Amino acid sequence: DFKHMTFPKNFLWGGATAANQIEGAYDVDGRGLSVMDITTAGSLHQRRQVTYRMPDGTTGKADSLPQGAEGAILPDEYYPNHVGIDFYHHYKEDIALFAQMGFKTFRMSISWSRIFPHGDEQEPNQAGLAFYHDVFNELHKYNIEPLVTISHYELPLYLEEHYDGWNNRKLIDFYAHFAQTVFEAYKDQVKYWLTFNEINTTIMFLDMKQGGATDADYQAAYQQLHYQYVASAKAVQIGHAINPDFQIGCMICGIVSYPLTPDPKDILQNRYNWEQNIFYSGDVQCFGEYPTYAKRLWDAHHVHLDITDEDLAELKKGTVDLYTFSYYMSSTVTTHTTDEKVGGNFSMGAKNPYLHYSEWQWADDPMGLQYYLEIIYDRYHLPIMVVENGLGAKDTVKADGTIHDPYRINYLKEHIQAMDQAIKDGVNLIGYTSWGCIDLVSAGTGQMSKRYGFIYVDRDDQGNGTLKRTPKDSFYWYQKVIQSNGADL
Ligand code: BG6
Repeated sequence: DFKHMTFPKNFLWGGATAANQIEGAYDVDGRGLSVMDITTAGSLHQRRQVTYRMPDGTTGKADSLPQGAEGAILPDEYYPNHVGIDFYHHYKEDIALFAQMGFKTFRMSISWSRIFPHGDEQEPNQAGLAFYHDVFNELHKYNIEPLVTISHYELPLYLEEHYDGWNNRKLIDFYAHFAQTVFEAYKDQVKYWLTFNEINTTIMFLDMKQGGATDADYQAAYQQLHYQYVASAKAVQIGHAINPDFQIGCMICGIVSYPLTPDPKDILQNRYNWEQNIFYSGDVQCFGEYPTYAKRLWDAHHVHLDITDEDLAELKKGTVDLYTFSYYMSSTVTTHTTDEKVGGNFSMGAKNPYLHYSEWQWADDPMGLQYYLEIIYDRYHLPIMVVENGLGAKDTVKADGTIHDPYRINYLKEHIQAMDQAIKDGVNLIGYTSWGCIDLVSAGTGQMSKRYGFIYVDRDDQGNGTLKRTPKDSFYWYQKVIQSNGADL
């Protein structure tokens, strides 16, 4: 019975996006290239790749930049993030639509290479800073609280090419300088910050690696994570010194996992899965130290990390104020052989016979959201926000221009009911931003046709379309949800 809803009075209802998936304008006003600008389009069956040029002039495509290569934009390739949905030039119109839905908050990220075109400069690009000033002002016009991710899957390309990205300890200071710059610039406009989007995917995605991940892959992933944890902890301290009211959170990819069978081996395997993929990152960022099981995780892959005493002190001092996470699906773990592997995004596992799967094979599991919220709140006792949740689906525009998306409404409704239950069970959930509140470029596949929005954007997978915005049925439904503070679903 969902008549007696329990969402707190100031619950932060809203929607979420990331700079590289919406902004476009990839080469204007002094912006430098990011790794997403050399990333091609893909599909469910075809991975996205990066395009490059070798010192001898030959060009090619690969899963990641080969040693010695420079990222290159090739004339015959299509790069969906170059235009995104052109939020850069449409933000006023888009924010007005968010306001019409009644958004209390809007999650967005800052493009690092818009502020520091190479990533290692001292002086920021003023035009880049000005753009976000304008966006935040526009949000405040409608009393929409910005929720800002500092780094959402888009390293400046130069840092990748010249420093080998997060394999290099120097990245900690580049990131800290970037964070300090935006904290200072927006200290009166932004209160809620997230340090790294889905930080745990660095390790989680190894489960998806074709042919299986090697010990060297684990070594690299754990080391990159360590540098990111230290960078995050530094940012938290810098932020609090600039404005003690800042609420700075971690952001975890919350793919719940279950054991497929009652075989104790599966139960243990599932526990290890939670430790490696979910708890490890949360524990370091919320408790400020490595967990007891870290040694077992490292030993399993002969990992030896560069961790200094200063690093450990930083971690301790830089714990987060909030726990935030994305939630789309659950996965199922087994030590037994299974016929079919299903999943997407950052997790592959056995098929769960009790769940339905989307066209992209993501398991629809609202109860998993309740389960996750309750486990996590009990572990950390920190305020929680669900900062991504949604259904990627194809929409059809009717002849009269309307878009009927009952599948999306149904998905979101069930997940809101799951949050309601978790709140009733005592979880201090303070906000919900559904993913891709306006259609955007899919991170995983680069498609536009994998849509999440309440607002339809006229653009296809090849880059055709007018970019016109149209509210879908779910737009009016979400407006009602927010207006009734979650009572009218
Ligand atoms: C999350 C990311 O993993 O999932 C988003 O933080 C992403 O950037 C979202 O867009 C949905 O995934 P996809 O692949 O459908 O875009």
